[in-house]
Amino acid sequence: MYAAFRSIGAYVPEKILTNEDLSHMVDTTDAWITKRTGIKERRIAAADETTSDMGVKACEKAIERSGISKKEIDMIICATISPDYFCMPSTATVIATKLGLSAITAFDVSAACTGFVYILSIAKAFIESGMKKNVLIVGAEKLSAITDYTDRGTCILFGDGAGAALISATPHQNEAIIDVHTGADGAYADLLMTPNGGSGSAHDALDREAAGCYMKMKGNETFKVAVRTLTSDVVSILNENMIEASAIDHFIPHQANYRIIKAVGDALNMQDEQVVLTVAKYGNTSGASIPMAMNEIYEAGTLRSGELMLLDAFGGGLTWGSALLPFAPQS
Ligand code: UT7
Repeated sequence: MYAAFRSIGAYVPEKILTNEDLSHMVDTTDAWITKRTGIKERRIAAADETTSDMGVKACEKAIERSGISKKEIDMIICATISPDYFCMPSTATVIATKLGLSAITAFDVSAACTGFVYILSIAKAFIESGMKKNVLIVGAEKLSAITDYTDRGTCILFGDGAGAALISATPHQNEAIIDVHTGADGAYADLLMTPNGGSGSAHDALDREAAGCYMKMKGNETFKVAVRTLTSDVVSILNENMIEASAIDHFIPHQANYRIIKAVGDALNMQDEQVVLTVAKYGNTSGASIPMAMNEIYEAGTLRSGELMLLDAFGGGLTWGSALLPFAPQS
């Protein structure tokens, strides 16, 4: 059996936080943010809207578009760094229950912005081994809950949203996810982290800033490692599979920063029309950013059956990953 990428769905919250809004909150300007990141605005979840709430809405769309009935789903994996609950239950189990699915395998994966590529690789492995048939994967983030809105180095980057996909078993090799790369190097952990709140240190739940529960990033160093690592990883996944960059219909990178996307795209000689960009509208939504971007082209009618996608992602850990796959809706 092969694993086929059957459908995509996404959800974004209504509230928009613009660069202009941020310029009244921290010492920054629309001009600086636009020039250094390409971001113009991002979405912010309502106070009572959780990561699982957003994930469920994305999942419902992905299920509806897959042609597969809910009761055929045998596993849900959620990629998130902003789970509903600290430690447990996993956001995947909360999503499963809200979808009306019980007695199902459900768990979260923590690989930051690379989370969606990681869960894609897990879904592929479970399906190819014959252990599961229909795996729902969802990247969902309420990053506004772990963002320090007094830190101009990070708060301008992040937003909220969710994206989901259904991965199913198929006997047809032409529908198969071709390859997925994943990697990590904990030596760079301190470049992008939430320093506290875990077993490594005590924390005061009443003071999240003092407790170090917000994300901290050494942005410029992260930027350089991101460009270097992503470029070599996408070059190797293309070479190993003997696929030319020009054969890619849609290059769908993690939407962290336009300059990172441009640098990697240029290294591959990608044409503008191959590169999917949503960073201006949604900012960096970590594990949700790739499926949200994929959903944009699906809803625009430009992602068609059989078209070849190249995904790449980079994030806290540090982690990275890439994937080569055709879009394979059920005919
Ligand atoms: O998704 C997971 C992985 N994340 C990434 O890959 C993100 C990687 N990093 C980045 O996207 C960029 O490094 C940032 C957008 C975060 C920062 O851009 P940069 O070009 O690397 O700027 P920088 O950190 O080198 O800072 C340049 C200057 C500094 O001022 P001085 O020291 O030159 O006077 C900063 O203090 O810009 C200043 N600065 C700002 N100015 C206005 C930093 N943030 C801001 C801001 N508004 N928001």
